[in-house]
Amino acid sequence: MIDPFGRTITYLRVSVTDRCDFRCVYCMAEEMTFLPKSELLTLEELDRMCSAFVRLGVRKLRLTGGEPLVRRNIRTLFRMLGRHLTTGALDELTLTTNGSQLARYAGELRDCGVRRVNVSVDTLDPAKFTEITRRGRLEVVLEGLAAAKAAGLAVKINAVALRGVNEDELDDLVAWTGEHGFDLVFIEVMPMGDIGGENRLDQYLPLSMVRARLQRRWTLDESDYRTGGPARYVTVRETGRRLGFITPLTHNFCESCNRVRLTCTGTLFMCLGQEDAADLRTPLRQSEGDEALEAAIREAIDRKPKGHDFIIDRRHNRPAVARHMSVTGG
Ligand code: 5AD
Ligand code: SF4
Repeated sequence: MIDPFGRTITYLRVSVTDRCDFRCVYCMAEEMTFLPKSELLTLEELDRMCSAFVRLGVRKLRLTGGEPLVRRNIRTLFRMLGRHLTTGALDELTLTTNGSQLARYAGELRDCGVRRVNVSVDTLDPAKFTEITRRGRLEVVLEGLAAAKAAGLAVKINAVALRGVNEDELDDLVAWTGEHGFDLVFIEVMPMGDIGGENRLDQYLPLSMVRARLQRRWTLDESDYRTGGPARYVTVRETGRRLGFITPLTHNFCESCNRVRLTCTGTLFMCLGQEDAADLRTPLRQSEGDEALEAAIREAIDRKPKGHDFIIDRRHNRPAVARHMSVTGG
């Protein structure tokens, strides 16, 4: 699949549920209305969708949410998708998780062919962790990380840089991930979805500042390592680990974008930062064969936009994109 700007689409991210057992302050409002379960694609339908994308050239699948591991029987989907790794049609099956269920799932994920996980940890202070996630417990996530490590999964930690919240801890996160052999990626707050009384401008901490501060303690060597994603990487000389920065507001990374995103209701978003989307559920349910579905996927890729236009709307404190990250998957 090649889009109008010559980018080959090889990466599909799939949000398998919009639900989450956390309510991170930058992601969700305290009270959230989730989709009725009847709206969701079944696990068999998700498998059919993903398999169609794999046939069309997708080499990497990431399951996200919400929190993917809170979807009932999600292990079945991992097991089904694992077959594409066995045949060689797929290079990588992975997930982004908040880690709350990882202790239970790590071994099984490994058995399904998963080799790497992205886990969100914004702070190492238990009280702050519960404040940011509104209902998470750091201790449980740390157990999950230990299980992932024991199962031989490579771990990448995602940390959203939050002004006045975890900015005093960013050095500690570098040291901690270094000790455990985890990679680390810092993310700037993105203006996605209503988050209730919180204000994103108050949360926003530019990563240029983060990087300057980190350089007082660490030697950051430029690296040309790229994952095809938005992160720019350096190597931390003292720990030998990779450190990435995702700066959607200050840096445009769209020219190398290789991905599209599927929601749990079967809507395909060609860009995280744009509203245009394609309904794939209708063609999926229309027939048992996948011809209509494949045609709809190709037609959608032909509409992939050149880039996003995120800004934090200063005057109205309105998100640039109305849907939450938990709909399209972070
Ligand atoms: N801005 C930046 N990062 C976000 N995440 C969720 N919502 C936002 C947002 N509005 C992050 C999560 C997780 C990743 C999947 O996306 O913390 O690390
Ligand atoms: Fe859940 Fe992730 Fe959103 Fe936090 S950021 S509420 S863990 S989906």
